[in-house]
Amino acid sequence: MKPNVLVTKRLYPEAIEYLEQYAEVDYECSDQGLTAEALRERLKGKQAIVAALIDKFNAAVIEQLDGIKVIANVAVGFDNVDVPAATRKGILVTNTPDVLTDTTADFAFTLLLAAARRVIEGHQHIHGGRWIKWSIDLLVGHDVHHKTLGIFGMGRIGQAVARRGRGFSMRVIYSDAVRAPELVERELQLEFVSKEHLLRDADFVSLHVPLLDSTRRLIGEPELRIMKKSAILVNTSRGPVVDEAAVAQALSERWIAGAGLDVFENEPHVHPTLLQLDNVVLAPHIASASIDTRRGMCMLAARNAVAALEGRRPETLLNPELWESGSREA
Ligand code: DGY
Repeated sequence: MKPNVLVTKRLYPEAIEYLEQYAEVDYECSDQGLTAEALRERLKGKQAIVAALIDKFNAAVIEQLDGIKVIANVAVGFDNVDVPAATRKGILVTNTPDVLTDTTADFAFTLLLAAARRVIEGHQHIHGGRWIKWSIDLLVGHDVHHKTLGIFGMGRIGQAVARRGRGFSMRVIYSDAVRAPELVERELQLEFVSKEHLLRDADFVSLHVPLLDSTRRLIGEPELRIMKKSAILVNTSRGPVVDEAAVAQALSERWIAGAGLDVFENEPHVHPTLLQLDNVVLAPHIASASIDTRRGMCMLAARNAVAALEGRRPETLLNPELWESGSREA
């Protein structure tokens, strides 16, 4: 008899086809998501969940999960799942790292360039019929090349952004709870600095930390006031890593020059002030949204779910201690 899997959101079809080879699939083929009640109902008799980053598996929800062997998250970020609670309950949790690293870094750089060189304003200028003639200071922006790029979080995506910065002849400084390996620092010519040093020195500040208690509101009013007036902030990590109201104020009062934001504190809600501003480039959480990468994420999550159901170690397991302790029944 095949095991039973719940897929909570619409995915690329090949991931569903793959799952169907190994499991009975209860597929919520919509983008709406399930209410807590519907989720509880649909989880009856299931052994695996393929979940999206907007599905919240907090300790209370996890406590109710009976018979579930794995939660396979279709995202690298896993702040939507209480992993320690899942571990206590004997549930494997997986995410989708690596497949999205370069795509996300490309997009962080896209936001950086678009904000610095005022691409959206240029587009709107033409669309609004305001382009009457060329002039010497029409939509002048900020140079990117040879400037200082400050990166918070030197994990996989942080490194990929640093690599792009080096390609633009930028000086790259970074701050993190843990220093990057010497080899990485040498290859990318990185300078490890304090948070305050980074904020003071960087022309561009790009955020690549996971959302943790220690990184929540990493950037708020005090940090924005330290940054250069000409600085540009880029966030492709998680919305709550910045205090969105403080960023909106900083942009409207020009404490900093600009921002590129892909993530928000209460998605899909965006702070109303940000919607009025020209010096911010906004995107709807699409940093990993290339066709190949989104397909890759769906397939990795599907493979992780199947591996766990078959008693094999999933490729990208977040609670390996559960696997190693052998306390889990395959
Ligand atoms: C992630 O994977 O965590 C992104 O935010 C969505 O791709």
